[in-house]
Amino acid sequence: MKQILFVNACMRGPEQSRTWRLSQAFLAACRTRWPEAVVKERDLTGCELPVLTGALAQERDRKAEVDTAGPMFEPAREMAQADLVVIAAPDWDMTFPAALKIYLEWTCTLGVTFHYTREGVQEGLCRAEELVYITTAGGPLEGKNFGFDYIRGLGKMFGIPAAHCLSAEGLDVRENDPEAILRAAEDRAAVLAEKLKG
Ligand SMILES: Cc1cc2nc3c(=O)[nH]c(=O)nc-3n(C[C@H](O)[C@H](O)[C@H](O)COP(=O)(O)O)c2cc1C
Repeated sequence: MKQILFVNACMRGPEQSRTWRLSQAFLAACRTRWPEAVVKERDLTGCELPVLTGALAQERDRKAEVDTAGPMFEPAREMAQADLVVIAAPDWDMTFPAALKIYLEWTCTLGVTFHYTREGVQEGLCRAEELVYITTAGGPLEGKNFGFDYIRGLGKMFGIPAAHCLSAEGLDVRENDPEAILRAAEDRAAVLAEKLKG
């Protein structure tokens, strides 16, 4: 059964977040395309994961040598096991909210999401072939979509070869019509869900 991991960093919550609204349009299109798919949500809006301090990173390394079954490794395991990774985050200060960075640090676990071959080459261990990054921005993102650039790079490190960005931009520009921009992005969400590999 197809496992979709939905990483929710829409910090303003479902009532206010336009990124959340766009993500739901995309997930609805995914459910139409793959009715049997299971969507697992990782809700980051409560900021429950601790910042990875030096001490925690050391503890993680120590534990990873023995067993990666514990709760500390849940973010990495869910990332490794997903068939499709969907990350939704508004554009904040040229990337995304800090809660997402904290989560991604927890997913970067040696031996779970990536490893090094005997030759010392870094190799991804994740199952997904595609990742979708959903974002909305107050202004334009062209030439400065650094959140997506980073996520795409990290996806490659994890062995996820393809990344797609679905965005609604210019939502806070006074002359713009945010509702029209969002509706157009929702149409693109449906098209994107159709063109994913499956
Ligand atoms: C803390 C914060 C930082 C932001 N930084 C940027 C930015 O760097 N560039 C930009 O275009 N918009 C920025 N914005 C505007 C948001 O990206 C925009 O309003 C977005 O649609 C908010 O998404 P949401 O409705 O899902 O919360 C920022 C908004 C907030 C609250």
